[in-house]
Amino acid sequence: MMAIVQLDKNTIEKIAAGEVIESPLSIVKELVENSIDAKAKNIVVEIKNGGKSYIRVTDDGTGIEEYELELAFKRHATSKINTFDDLYNIFTLGFRGEALSSILACADLTLISCTKNSKVGKKVVYKNNKLIHKSSIATNIGTSIEVYNLFKNIPVRRKFLASDIRESNRISRLIHAFALGYDGISFKFIKDDRFIFHTLENQNLISKIYNLIDENLKDELIHLEIKNNLYEISGYTSSINYYRGNRSLQYIFINNRLVEYKKISNSIEDTYSGLIPNSRYPAFFIFINTNSNNVDVNIHPNKREIKLSYEDELLSLIKENIGKKVIENVSSKEIKIKNEKSKELNFYEDYSDILNAYNKINDSSIVKEDNYNSQYFYNFFNKKDVESENNITNMEDNYIQESINSHEESKLVKQNIFDISKIIYKSSLFGKYSLFEYNDKLLLLNHRRAEQRLKFEKYIKDFKNQEIVSQQLLDPIIMKININDYSKYIENKDLFKKLGFDIEEFSSDKLIIRSLPLIFDIPEKINFFYELLDLNFNDEDLFYDKISKIINNISFKKGDRINEDEANELINGLNKLDNPYKTFDGKTILISISESEMEKYFER
Ligand SMILES: Nc1ncnc2c1ncn2[C@@H]1O[C@H](COP(=O)(O)OP(=O)(O)OP(=O)(O)O)[C@@H](O)[C@H]1O
Ligand SMILES: [Mg+2]
Repeated sequence: MMAIVQLDKNTIEKIAAGEVIESPLSIVKELVENSIDAKAKNIVVEIKNGGKSYIRVTDDGTGIEEYELELAFKRHATSKINTFDDLYNIFTLGFRGEALSSILACADLTLISCTKNSKVGKKVVYKNNKLIHKSSIATNIGTSIEVYNLFKNIPVRRKFLASDIRESNRISRLIHAFALGYDGISFKFIKDDRFIFHTLENQNLISKIYNLIDENLKDELIHLEIKNNLYEISGYTSSINYYRGNRSLQYIFINNRLVEYKKISNSIEDTYSGLIPNSRYPAFFIFINTNSNNVDVNIHPNKREIKLSYEDELLSLIKENIGKKVIENVSSKEIKIKNEKSKELNFYEDYSDILNAYNKINDSSIVKEDNYNSQYFYNFFNKKDVESENNITNMEDNYIQESINSHEESKLVKQNIFDISKIIYKSSLFGKYSLFEYNDKLLLLNHRRAEQRLKFEKYIKDFKNQEIVSQQLLDPIIMKININDYSKYIENKDLFKKLGFDIEEFSSDKLIIRSLPLIFDIPEKINFFYELLDLNFNDEDLFYDKISKIINNISFKKGDRINEDEANELINGLNKLDNPYKTFDGKTILISISESEMEKYFER
C-alpha cells in the first residue's frame, strides 16, 4: 500500500467531503471498506444492539504501520490517492481520508493493527477525539477497530436511530451486499454475540444468493452476461415469478463499488412492467464494469452515488438486453402469471365500448362520486395527533387502531346510497358484470372488484376487533427464510398473530406456518407472506395498501361467473359501505348510468 499522506489544500477543496456519520450503518460501511481496500481475505463484523453500543471490524489485511497510526486518524489523510487526478483512475473504495476522523468525532474507538514489517502490533485508544493510550500488543497481521459510545456527545442523532432490530437489519443487508460483491473475501457476521452467517472465500455468487438472500430464488434467477464497447454487465436478475414489495433485494455494483443508482434500477424495473404486478420489484444482483475514466466517484460525501460519463449507453444496453432475457425466460417456461395478465387485459377490452361511452357522458354523477370518494379516504386515514415523541414503542399499533377508529366514525354519519328494495337484478354480462335497474338508472357491477372491496372491509374490521378467522393447514408450510426476514418477522410477530397467522419459530432460518387467515385461501405460493414481511407497520397507508393488494390477488380464483343471489348479496354488501363505487385502490366497482344519459346516445 502507498504511504498515508495528508492531501494538499487544492485537492481537499475539490473532494466531495463532509461525511456525516448518521448511524451505525455508516460506520460499519466505512470500516469494512477500509478492510477491503487493505486487501483482506477475511473480514469479521461484530455488532451489539444494532451497532449502537458496539461495533468491531477485524481484518487480515495489510495493517497500518506504527508511524502512520496517528496520521490515519487525521482529516484528509489517505494512502489511496495523492492528487485529485488519481480520482479518475481509482480502484480503492476510500479516497477522501475522512472516515476514521469522522468516526472519532462521534464515538470512542480502539484500534489494534500489525503489519508484516513489524514484530509486534500496536494498540491505540481514542476517547473524546483524543489519543489517550498507546501500547504494543501481540497480534496477527491485520487491523481490528472497535467503536463504542456512539453519539454520546450528540444525543439528537442518537435519538433518531431506528430500533436495534432495524439498525441491525440494515447492517446485515450491507454485509450481504459486501459478501455478494467480493469474490475473494470471506465475511463473518456476529450479532449480539451470536454467529449469524459466514461466507467462504471464493464461494460462488449463486450459492451466496441462495444462502444469504432467499432459497426461493432457486430456479428463478436469470443469468446475465452482456457487453458493448463501454460496459460489461454480469450477474443475475429474478424471473417474473419472484418479486418483492420493496427494493431491498436489488444490488448494483459498478467497478466493484456498491452503489445506489436510481436510473439503473428504474431501467431494469421497466423491463418487468406488465409482467409483474404494480408496485412490485424484481430482485437483482448486477455487476457493471467499465473503464475507471468513465466513473466519477466524487459526487457525494458518502460515496454511495457515482456518475457515469456514458450513462445513456448503459441504460439502453440494459433496456435492450435485460428486457429480452426476461421475456425469453417467460416464454420458455410458459408462466401462469402472464396468462392471468392477458386475461386482465381482455377484461378491459371486452368492455371498452361501454366504458368509453360512460366516460363520455361522464357528468355530475361522477363528480359527486369523486367527492364522496376523497372524503371517504380522508376519514379513513385521518389520524389525530397520536405521535408523542417519546412513546415510540406503542405508536405502531396506535396508528393502525386510530385510523380504523376514524374509519368507523365516518361510518356513523353515512347513509346507505341505495334503497336496496328498489334494486332489480336484470342479468349477468360477459360473465364478469351484473346488470341492475335502479329507479331510472342502470347499474353495472364488476363482480371481482366488488368482492375485493368487501373482503378488504371485512378483513380490516375483523383485524380491528381481533376476530380474524384462521384456517389450520393440513400440511403446515415450512418456510426457509433469510436472517433479515426472520428478524422482520420477530419484530412484527404480534401483528402476524393479529392478522390471523399461527406461526412457529422452528430455527433461526425456518418458520412453520400452521394457520393462515381464512380469507387467504390455501396459498399455492406463499408470496404474500413476504409481502407482509416487507411491510413497515409504521406506515398505515402502506399497511392498507398491502392488505388490499393481497386480497385483490386472491379474489375470485374460482372463476368470475356468479348467479342472481350472489350478485344481490354483493350489491347489498356494498350498499352498507361508505363509497361503494371504488375499490380501496381507487378502481371502479360500480357504474351508474341514468336514463337521460342513455338517451343522449339515441339522440333524443
Ligand atoms: N483496516 C485497515 N487496514 C489498513 N489500513 C487502514 C485500515 N483502515 C484505515 N487504514 C488506513 O487509514 C487511512 C485512513 O482511513 P480512512 O477510512 O479515514 O480514509 P480513506 O479510506 O483513505 O478514505 P475515505 O474517507 O474515503 O474512507 C487509509 O487511507 C488507510 O491507509
Ligand atoms: Mg476509508
